[in-house]
Amino acid sequence: MAEGKVHIFDTTLRDGEQVPGCKLNTNEKLELALQLEDLGVDIIEAGFPISSPGDFESVTQISKAIKNATVCGLSRAVQKDIEVAAQALKYAVRPRIHTGIGTSDFHIKSKFNSTREDILQRAIQCVKWARNFTDDVEFYAEDAGRTDNDYLAQVIEAVIKAGATVVNIPDTTGYCLPYQYGEKIAYLVNNVSNIDKAIISCHCHNDLGLATANSIAGVISGARQIECTINGLGERAGNTSLEEVVMIIKQHRHLGLYTNINAKQLNPLSRIVSDTMRMPVQPNKAIVGSNAFSHSSGIHQDGFLKDALTYEIINPEEVGADSSKIVLTARSGRSALAYRFQKLGFQFDRNDVDVLYNEFLIVADSKKEVEDGDLQTMGKQHQSNAVVA
Ligand code: KIV
Ligand code: ZN
Repeated sequence: MAEGKVHIFDTTLRDGEQVPGCKLNTNEKLELALQLEDLGVDIIEAGFPISSPGDFESVTQISKAIKNATVCGLSRAVQKDIEVAAQALKYAVRPRIHTGIGTSDFHIKSKFNSTREDILQRAIQCVKWARNFTDDVEFYAEDAGRTDNDYLAQVIEAVIKAGATVVNIPDTTGYCLPYQYGEKIAYLVNNVSNIDKAIISCHCHNDLGLATANSIAGVISGARQIECTINGLGERAGNTSLEEVVMIIKQHRHLGLYTNINAKQLNPLSRIVSDTMRMPVQPNKAIVGSNAFSHSSGIHQDGFLKDALTYEIINPEEVGADSSKIVLTARSGRSALAYRFQKLGFQFDRNDVDVLYNEFLIVADSKKEVEDGDLQTMGKQHQSNAVVA
């Protein structure tokens, strides 16, 4: 079994940027690439150089600026694409060409009007061609999620023989269930004779909300690279979310896996990506959503205030988030109310809180959230009533 380091391949600047309305200019891409390197990602997929002069320029500038991470450029299994990618990557300290072709029968028949044998030959040729420009060649078998496992194993064995150092098994349409994706990776581990010469990579899309679960199933079965994006951005329902897989691996140490990601930068970088790409993060998004560390129901608040571990498995500081919030709503309880009054400097005993709680419920039923201003008004009113009495 492979050792425990899981390489984090960030594709925010390539698959993430394919989201409608998220187009980045070269300066924005460069700035984000530097931040990703600082975060500790192992590979930055900087773009698809042949797709436009702007993307070519972005990959060139990122190649010049990045010193530690591998810089990767995407291409189709087409000689010209590969040459243009190689040209854009020529200044990179660690260049990687990512090339490949669709291997499912849907792609072979409908997209290429071709045969399995022809696609196998094209796969071999593109890897051989890419190896003329760099020793680090990643092959993707597009729609591997719906590709027959026997044929997939045949293609993967052949491209490794042709020189691929990483083999990417994309669930392009987000179709697989976690056990199916995990079994697919295990099938390759057990049936590709030269698999020890390459790293297996998981590239999962989120059409059924399973991208993260599938990627984790993949590394449990022996893959050692995950392709992911900040905030899970990407085509349609998105890609595997970087922050989720990193924190799952960190939380579940028994898996014997680790990454090089500096988790404290996850929330700050999530905000930068969201602002730069003008894509708001859903409040309930794991790890980086604004509600990820908020507690609003009475039962949870009471438990959390006694011991944070009762309702939080991650300390927000660990992922660079603001401290946990006790949000006051009509579902909140007395302990949360007392806690929030105390934070505002009021010293109320149990009887005070009982009285205030009834007033609080009336306010809470009339609005979504009771805020500090409401509490100040209620608290001061209660103090002056006490003086008069
Ligand atoms: O989803 C996919 O199959 C891809 C490949 C181009 C790697 O993004
Ligand atoms: Zn993709």
